[in-house]
Amino acid sequence: MTSQQQFPDGFLWGGATAANQIEGASNEGGKGPNIADVLPGGKIRLKILTEPGFDFKMDTEKYRYPNHEAIDFYHRYKEDIALFAEMGFKAFRLSIAWSRIFPNGDETEPNQEGIDFYHRVFDELIKHNIEPVVTISHYEMPLHLVTEYGGWRNRKVIKFFERYVTAIFTAYKDKVKYWMTFNEINSALVMPIMSLGFSRLEDEKANEQAVFQGFHHQFVASSIATKIGHELIPDSKIGCMIIYTPVYPYDCHPNNVLDALEKEQLFNYFCADVHVRGEYPSFIHRYFKKHDINVEMEPGDLELIKKYPVDYLALSYYMSRTETADYSGMEKSSGNIITGVKNPHLKASDWGWEIDPVGLRISLKNLYDRYRIPLFVVENGLGAFDKVEKDGTIQDDYRIDYLREHIIAIREAIADGVEVMGYTSWGCIDLVSASTGEYSKRYGYIYVDKHDDGSGTMERKKKASFYWYKKVIETNGQEL
Ligand code: BG6
Repeated sequence: MTSQQQFPDGFLWGGATAANQIEGASNEGGKGPNIADVLPGGKIRLKILTEPGFDFKMDTEKYRYPNHEAIDFYHRYKEDIALFAEMGFKAFRLSIAWSRIFPNGDETEPNQEGIDFYHRVFDELIKHNIEPVVTISHYEMPLHLVTEYGGWRNRKVIKFFERYVTAIFTAYKDKVKYWMTFNEINSALVMPIMSLGFSRLEDEKANEQAVFQGFHHQFVASSIATKIGHELIPDSKIGCMIIYTPVYPYDCHPNNVLDALEKEQLFNYFCADVHVRGEYPSFIHRYFKKHDINVEMEPGDLELIKKYPVDYLALSYYMSRTETADYSGMEKSSGNIITGVKNPHLKASDWGWEIDPVGLRISLKNLYDRYRIPLFVVENGLGAFDKVEKDGTIQDDYRIDYLREHIIAIREAIADGVEVMGYTSWGCIDLVSASTGEYSKRYGYIYVDKHDDGSGTMERKKKASFYWYKKVIETNGQEL
């Protein structure tokens, strides 16, 4: 890096997506159903994600299921990747749908059609000099593992995951170097359904017990993946991925500072500590005792976790969280799964997510000070309503402003000495929202003509932010 340079050579500029939010073709290519397939679109989804009692059944009379069609990347990937290439992407983060490779999850042999599909996608990316960055499990566990095994609560799922990672590492060893195991693993503390594969349990104590047991199985599975990945792909980089929301105390009362710190430890650090340091953090033992949580472990689990920590830490960053030990009389913030009180210094998006670019710099500094391994910002972005003007243009200056400020925050963190590998903003092409199943919550540089009522041609259009981001990448972040 020269002295004037603000982003290092080889910085991985790009965009991020997940299979269930873009591919569609939910019944094609031998794919089995997964969790995302049974989640309806609209506000009802948020209720299902955060409240108990979901039965994993579809009701097509009553609801729409937007993930079935998503944005049809399955058939349009060439066109979409060409647009990413036109923006100059160095990297594209996508996930593999586990149920395309193992339709039920518990088979012994992979589905060749699924394997072939991702070969075609990776070949197309490589043709355009775009590095694939692959999430192994992004909220799309095979449904059969949920209904028959109870999701990650069941230790047997580790074995199925091992088969899955072995199949994909073997198939794509010459094409994919960057991997990460579980998307936003820590989100299960608020909504176990998408990543752990069970609906929140009515009894809070039983729910916590199940979540921490599921985490333990995922930690073991992640270490197995890191071990196998390094063996099969010696130059691979295998990371973990967390949702990071720095927790601010509402004021300087020591009780509030302590409360914020403890929420930060539990939500932001617990999973990352196990993945990166290879051991359960000291603070969790008191928490387990207080909440009467007993995680069942097998001999050798802790040794395995210690021996195979991750190579890098990936994070999503959308907002900060402001907390107080006593909520009485306080106005709550309305970001979907992240709770807290309103921060009087911040504005919020149309969906109530507080916008805080400085929080990203704080996050990167916190994480790097704690772990001293490379960080990768693999999600960040603004979900907003976009309007197509009469002349066909989409003037999304609000999105450009949001992204610019967050990229500046990363630049400043790098200047502070933080090692950041890259930036893949979320939903580089409009897609189906994870928490509300909406098309109208748009994140992309590329507009997709598809709407919440199911109408639309799927035509792709470049937004103003498309041209802006192209310039950012071209100048390696010099021109913002
Ligand atoms: C992250 C997820 O939580 O945030 C993505 O990893 C998701 O899958 C993104 O799409 C934005 O959230 P939403 O609910 O606006 O789609």
